[in-house]
Amino acid sequence: MRIEVVRGDVTQQPVDAVVTAANQALKGGGGVDAAVHRAAGPELVRASRALAPCPTGQAVVTPAFDLAPVRWVVHAVGPRYRGRPQDADLLASAYTAALACADGVGARSVAFPAISTGVYGYPDEEAARVSVAALRGASTDVERVLLVAFGDRQERLWHAALG
Ligand code: APR
Repeated sequence: MRIEVVRGDVTQQPVDAVVTAANQALKGGGGVDAAVHRAAGPELVRASRALAPCPTGQAVVTPAFDLAPVRWVVHAVGPRYRGRPQDADLLASAYTAALACADGVGARSVAFPAISTGVYGYPDEEAARVSVAALRGASTDVERVLLVAFGDRQERLWHAALG
């Protein structure tokens, strides 16, 4: 699996599946989740709520509706950062669960935002390392992952984590 860093908006990527940073209730929110729900239209929240609740560290997949040609939205629930030892495991799990969901519906390219690094307060540098390690350790038929950096700093952190 090839992992690339791109700068931009996760809703604007030419991929089969887009990951959003969701909450357990899968009811939409702010940040990247708002952008994804806005782009996919009102059917997305109906489809995602039907699959709620989603535990922290897990993910569910729905169609992408108006976000076409993207086919799938993967709703991944990262941890709220509290400085606990399990935070990193839960964040890693959110990435691998999202990748497995995408793989399960046959997606071969997947775009990820920096899960948990906004409202959920996860320190961005550690999160970049955890995300790259989790994705590199995964066994999958997904061929291409885009790490979509919303700003310069995120782009630098992911490049550094990729080495
Ligand atoms: N494309 C890519 N990345 C984005 C975009 C976008 N359009 N919009 C925001 N981001 C980035 C933010 O800069 C941040 O680094 O996504 C990262 C994750 O931030 P949040 O969206 O706040 O996600 P998170 O920290 O996981 O919090 C999840 O916030 O909106 C609610 O429903 C969501 O309750 C859940 C919580």
